[in-house]
Amino acid sequence: MAVNKVKGTYDVLPSESFRWQALEEKIRSILALYNIKEMRTPIMEYSEVFHRQSELSDMVTKETYDFDDRGDRKLTLRPEGTAGIIRSYVENKLYATQELEKVYYIGPNFRYERPQKGRYRQFFQFGVEAIGALDPALDAEMIILSYDFIKRLGLKGVSVRINTLGDDESRKTYQEALISHFEPHKDTLCEDCQARLLKNPLRILDCKVDQTHEAIIQAPTPQDYLNESSKAYFKQVLSHLTAAKIHYEIAPRLVRGLDYYSHIVFEIEADIEGFGAQNVLGGGGRYQKLVKELGGPDLGGIGFAFGMERLLMALEAENIELAVEKPLDAFIIVFNEDIRPKATQILYQLRQANYIADMNYTQKAFKGQLKQALRLNAKYLIILGDDEYQKGVVAIKNTATEVQEEVPFSRIAHYFKENVGK
Ligand code: HAM
Repeated sequence: MAVNKVKGTYDVLPSESFRWQALEEKIRSILALYNIKEMRTPIMEYSEVFHRQSELSDMVTKETYDFDDRGDRKLTLRPEGTAGIIRSYVENKLYATQELEKVYYIGPNFRYERPQKGRYRQFFQFGVEAIGALDPALDAEMIILSYDFIKRLGLKGVSVRINTLGDDESRKTYQEALISHFEPHKDTLCEDCQARLLKNPLRILDCKVDQTHEAIIQAPTPQDYLNESSKAYFKQVLSHLTAAKIHYEIAPRLVRGLDYYSHIVFEIEADIEGFGAQNVLGGGGRYQKLVKELGGPDLGGIGFAFGMERLLMALEAENIELAVEKPLDAFIIVFNEDIRPKATQILYQLRQANYIADMNYTQKAFKGQLKQALRLNAKYLIILGDDEYQKGVVAIKNTATEVQEEVPFSRIAHYFKENVGK
């Protein structure tokens, strides 16, 4: 019986993987400009990394893949990158050697969500975390980086939306105001939001069930509850963005779904045909308690993450190719099984000289081999027949110009150097 893939997952087929690689290469080259190094943490963590006692997010209750391993340890497949990075930052005491640690990561995450276009149960994120400092210039850098990144991809119709939740004090007052606001409407809220009311009322503003609910539209915004220092911090972040000429808009209702945020939150949206509700390419914000909660010192951080699938979908919708798959330099066509070892030798020599080369491995006749070579867009055919073999040569044919030349075995690599370069 054939077995299908797990619901909400997808395969990257050989014909598509170069698009992923091109995006990853682009990410790595841009991040190098910002002097940000890669960090790789495990896909599975002890559950308490995500299910922290004090935190009562939706992620905790519903969206994670939790399981007991054979030793009865409670483990969770990471639903996002930040918490695992912070766990490692604390465990490896990175704060002891660096006042500010800036890292990026690319990898799979798992959320038990209802799959739809642009939303999967296994999805890839590219994210950045800057841990150890509270400085408006750093918040601005993270926003500038995400903006720069999207611009460098060539995407248009992109907007950066920014808001502040204020510091812990402001956030707490705001949270209380939200509870008082929603309390009278409790029965009309969706089931999830009723549960969120006391634990994480900010999340109600992000309700996926009913964004047109009157009480949500009428809800107070964090701006009304900011204390002076939070207002000043926000203003400073914006002044850096203005200085750098970054286009942003203040989104007073933006709160973001994850519960660890305070101060700055931001999202990058793209206005892309057919995207619908999944137009958020990425988002992030500042977190001031996460490091301490995971056993580290009282240090804050700020970061963001982009969904790789959404980036690829956006690039496709906009007809942007980050890279074109490289065609073969050469395909060897062999007439006779007895002389194939010579083809193996030539193939190896060409690859040693860094040419992309291949031949047929399914005993196809000449016509079949030729078809395969043309399908692969090979620039040159290397034809090895009995006569050629006896003479110690191959026939090399340029598939674009159809010019064919006889080349001695010992000159093949040289011929490619002269005609293809490298
Ligand atoms: P998030 O908003 O939950 O933030 O996810 C960031 C991005 O990941 C989303 O904007 C979206 O593009 C993508 N994404 C999320 N869930 C899915 C899904 N089920 N399928 C496909 N793509 C998805 C975070 O994860 C935070 N850790 C970001 C952050 C880093 N904040 C501070 N540092």
